[in-house]
Amino acid sequence: MTAPLMTLTWTDHVTGRQGFLVVDRLVRGVSSGGLRMRPGCTLEEVAGLARGMTMKEALHYNPEGRYIPLGGAKGGIDCDPQDPAAYGLLVRYLRAMRPYIESFWTTGEDLGLTQDLVDRAAEEAGLVSSIQAVYPLLDDEATARRRLADAFAVEVDGIGLDELVGGCGVAESVLAALDRAGVAYKGTRAAVQGLGTMGGATARFLARAGLKVVAVADIKGTIANPAGLDVDALLAARDAYGTVDRSVLRPDDRELPGDAWLAADAEVLVPAAVSYTIDAANQRRITARWIVEAANMPVLAEAEELLAGRGVTVLPDVVVNSGTNAWWWWTLFGDIGADADEAFAYTRRSMRALIDQMLARAEADGTTARAAAHAIVSDRLPVIAERFGWYR
Ligand SMILES: NC(=O)c1ccc[n+]([C@@H]2O[C@H](COP(=O)([O-])OP(=O)(O)OC[C@H]3O[C@@H](n4cnc5c(N)ncnc54)[C@H](O)[C@@H]3O)[C@@H](O)[C@H]2O)c1
Repeated sequence: MTAPLMTLTWTDHVTGRQGFLVVDRLVRGVSSGGLRMRPGCTLEEVAGLARGMTMKEALHYNPEGRYIPLGGAKGGIDCDPQDPAAYGLLVRYLRAMRPYIESFWTTGEDLGLTQDLVDRAAEEAGLVSSIQAVYPLLDDEATARRRLADAFAVEVDGIGLDELVGGCGVAESVLAALDRAGVAYKGTRAAVQGLGTMGGATARFLARAGLKVVAVADIKGTIANPAGLDVDALLAARDAYGTVDRSVLRPDDRELPGDAWLAADAEVLVPAAVSYTIDAANQRRITARWIVEAANMPVLAEAEELLAGRGVTVLPDVVVNSGTNAWWWWTLFGDIGADADEAFAYTRRSMRALIDQMLARAEADGTTARAAAHAIVSDRLPVIAERFGWYR
């Protein structure tokens, strides 16, 4: 693959903190990728995520669909989202990025930020919307924008549809892998790191499919119960940052150290919080058979090699967590309406097809699932570039 089209480092004149923007590639003149805020965020991390977005967009290329993939991009701000200075910094970052957001970078929530916060800050920064660069590509802009706004207003069990579709896709990836291996859902155990947007929704859909969620971790530590946790109660007890109020724990739920989820007695591990969480040293403690990357870049390459050596399958982020991004575009371009059942059904069908295609390719090529996903992307990018040009 080629180097990113554009990398940018911004320094805030008030706090001296830094923010980054990497546009990996443009397709039809536009790129797509969320904005994250976390202490220690680097340009290198943002570049890796932007490349991942190019892959996610390409993987969902459906020549018959109304949504045609965009290029990949990502933004990042080096700050603790709970810092009192965080919101002002976010507004100034968006103001500085305004020319790019107005013309070729569409963005939304990622780690540390909610869509509400991004929307509010974008308005304060003088933007029409964080995805306005895509509007010129729409046939009927007013209808499309109304459909997306309606979809964002849909709630299921008190949780916004936008906060559920990503986890629906992650859970369906798990189910597709279990089906291929002939493993029943019931009795299969899962442990999840992170109970925010992605982790929370993943745990919810896994529990509904019949799996037993035996451990979840948030920033405060791991909550475990070998007999299965009450996922709905934990979800209802989260604050805006995905931290669970421990007062709702049942007497037999146990509180364990932050890294205990990793060694849980479970067949499926879902890292859904931070990047670089499974390394060469701690992978030794993993007994699971599948690691399903809801977070971006949670498994380091060296760890993945060691895990593959002992038969642990890592389902890669570029496929597994691509549902949220795709749902925005399916909805905006009109492949689906503002309806939860339609969104879940379409997400499930698309994710299952992708997982099956990836695992079949991995089997045929004798490679890891990640290498197979990359091979599919490599086949697809030239087809997309040929149809739409490199920058147009
Ligand atoms: N939100 C999306 O739509 C989306 C889409 C694709 C990928 N992702 C990726 O998923 C991951 C999570 O994103 P999110 O939006 O769910 O974040 P979030 O901010 O909503 O939730 C993060 C969760 O992780 C927990 N957490 C943070 N640091 C932790 C640590 N060190 N140990 C254990 N738990 C910790 C928090 O307590 C919280 O429960 C990120 O890697 C993000 O890039 C998110």
